[in-house]
Amino acid sequence: MTSRTLDAVNKQIQAEFQSAYIYLAMSGRFEDMKMSGAANWMRIQWQEETAHAMKLFDHLIRRGQAPVLETLDAPTVSFESALDAFEQVLAHEQHVTKLIHELYEVAIEEKDYALQTLMHWYIDEQVEEEENAEAIIDSLRLAGESGQGLFLVDRELGQRAPEEEEE
Ligand code: FEO
Repeated sequence: MTSRTLDAVNKQIQAEFQSAYIYLAMSGRFEDMKMSGAANWMRIQWQEETAHAMKLFDHLIRRGQAPVLETLDAPTVSFESALDAFEQVLAHEQHVTKLIHELYEVAIEEKDYALQTLMHWYIDEQVEEEENAEAIIDSLRLAGESGQGLFLVDRELGQRAPEEEEE
């Protein structure tokens, strides 16, 4: 693995942990808003992002490289409604998709075939991440910002369970 590739993977590990940190903060904010379903969804998203980071971390270990963990920023969580929050999630995931594509390009340029194969998983995962956020935004728009509709969406978000690890 070239030093450029290694640096790029370490940066993505940081980005995935940073995502986890943001979603955990959002989970706390939703608890504060008494939206326990959305808080649950965010808590599971925190676990998923941690798993994304660890998949890259373990890839480095398997290839005899020592991962270098970088500093995380304190998440700034600022939203007044669930719709606002999930619009932020979508924007964040679109940003992560861009990072994943850039890492894939590095893997191609550096002829790192093993990393290219691994990145296919992340590319697919990002399609799912954006799709999930868009579906929730659609539901929230239909529900409106208060009352029974919002209650029902929150209840549905509360049913999200951790995914089985895919190999
Ligand atoms: Fe790890 Fe939400 O992308």
